Amino acid sequence: MYSTVKVSVRKMKAFLWGLLALVPILKAQVPHWGPCPEPATQPAFNLKKFMGRWFEIAKLPAQFERGRCIETNFTLMLDGSARVVGSEILKGELKTIEGTAVVEDKRNPAKLGISFSYVLPYTPYWILSTDYENSALVYSCTDVLRLFHVDFAWILGRTRSLPAATIDHGKEVFTNNNIDVSRMILSRQQGCDKDL
Ligand SMILES: *[C@@H]1O[C@H](CO)[C@@H](O)[C@H](O)[C@H]1NC(C)=O
Repeated sequence: MYSTVKVSVRKMKAFLWGLLALVPILKAQVPHWGPCPEPATQPAFNLKKFMGRWFEIAKLPAQFERGRCIETNFTLMLDGSARVVGSEILKGELKTIEGTAVVEDKRNPAKLGISFSYVLPYTPYWILSTDYENSALVYSCTDVLRLFHVDFAWILGRTRSLPAATIDHGKEVFTNNNIDVSRMILSRQQGCDKDL
């Protein structure tokens, strides 16, 4: 009797923590009904070739309050993980955040997970497509009890801007994989280098 109560209290606590962890995600994005889509990912993904500097060209959801000049610098570590340094200019100040990316599914190295803190779980960071030298399509989706899902999508570039045709094609790839990018917005990458 006593142990049953204990277990259910523990379960309840875990459930409440789970809900709390969702708050920032839910605030940032409108959830979609149903489980996450299962998009195709980059075949034979080469993590090493993906390393280096990527600029955020477009993103979902629209976070207008966020900084500009957002970029991510990946560095391969000896253990096969990658050090991730994200940076942005927010209210005139350069802000950086450091995390770790790991291959979550050895059978599919394009399915990365990124964590920006020891206490946070790895969130999916799937490379749907990349040529390593110009652009990349990245998708992150989290299922909530398979009832609904919240997702993030990015078009990344090796340069601060990409041709409109590349962006359009990227959106098409997301759409063809049942990912709604109708609300995707372009990231602000103007006046970045002269400020620093
Ligand atoms: C990216 O990270 C590497 C390793 O820490 C560093 O040498 C390089 O200068 C960084 N590049 C940029 C653009 O920050």
